[in-house]
Amino acid sequence: MENKTLLSVKNLRTWFELRRLGFIKVGNVKAVDGVSFELSEGEAIAVVGESGCGKSTLARTIMGLYPPTDGEISFNGFTVDAKSKIDFKAYRRNVGFVQQDPYGALPPFMTLRRILEEPMLINGITDKEEMRKRIAQALTELKLSPVDDYLQKFPHMLSGGQQQRVVIARAKILEPRLIVADEPVSMLDASVRVEILQLLKRLQETYNIGVIYITHDLSTVRYFAERIFVMYAANLVEQAPVKTLIHNPLHPYTQALLEAISDPDSKNAQTYRKVPPGEPPSLLNPPTGCRFHPRCTHRIDGLCNIEEPPNFEVESKHRVMCWLYKDSKVSKTVTEANVS
Ligand SMILES: Nc1ncnc2c1ncn2[C@@H]1O[C@H](COP(=O)(O)OP(=O)(O)O)[C@@H](O)[C@H]1O
Ligand SMILES: [Mg+2]
Repeated sequence: MENKTLLSVKNLRTWFELRRLGFIKVGNVKAVDGVSFELSEGEAIAVVGESGCGKSTLARTIMGLYPPTDGEISFNGFTVDAKSKIDFKAYRRNVGFVQQDPYGALPPFMTLRRILEEPMLINGITDKEEMRKRIAQALTELKLSPVDDYLQKFPHMLSGGQQQRVVIARAKILEPRLIVADEPVSMLDASVRVEILQLLKRLQETYNIGVIYITHDLSTVRYFAERIFVMYAANLVEQAPVKTLIHNPLHPYTQALLEAISDPDSKNAQTYRKVPPGEPPSLLNPPTGCRFHPRCTHRIDGLCNIEEPPNFEVESKHRVMCWLYKDSKVSKTVTEANVS
């Protein structure tokens, strides 16, 4: 049986209006531009893409911190709308956010006890014993024990890795159904990255929490996700289960990404030569057609440079936004969104 859908994102767009001198409208930075996907209850997915492709904007839009320019986000079957205050508060209680910079995310003058109590107080959990229990459990699960040694500490007394574990404990304390983790280990020492991802993974499995793990580092994904989404220039260009994506990448951009990491200490310079030359495009004026076409060695002239490819479903759970697969059927999520 298919798992129940937890989060559904349809044709999501988040554009930022760019003005010169504060008032002359120059255009829109299309940071997220037509993103559709579904996440099942308890599923872990990874969103991978180069810096500037729109990953954080996607995360912040899902968190309700940026209003979407267009499209729809629904959670457990209900549309997420920041304007409907009561529902939105319930949504935020169900979704935890972990960002890149743990120190910036923690109020510097609060003890860990207050930091962890605060979300509970805001959400009407005021019973002292209940709070104590939840805090002790969250800290223990994040390997911040003995708990009493940590409760009176301030964030600056902790290492970066410990700070990020506090952020994860705080995200977990309201028993969320979803955690959005935006580059949660990129700022940390390489030595603690895997451990923190494993702790997050354990929470996901123990409590059946859906996780969106956002990263520019494809090599950390296999510790974590069941599916990978590849993001390029504000689009999800390929979505597939991890093994499928690694063994059978379809989008020329995904193929290039994988080739670049397949031989990390490459004596074989060939590996690097396969990565297409050029830079990711500007999101103010992205190329027409497929945004990857200027860098793509497989492009079909007269098509790829003119018309944006839809999401083709090549096999079950494997979607790709590329004209090379135009004989596959167009994926359902996108068709539905286009109709509505
Ligand atoms: N608040 C904002 N206002 C205007 N432009 C923004 C804002 N946030 C992000 N951008 C732009 O949107 C694009 C995507 O940024 P971001 O989502 O941070 O990418 P990533 O997280 O993948 O590095 C970039 O061009 C960035 O400059
Ligand atoms: Mg980012």
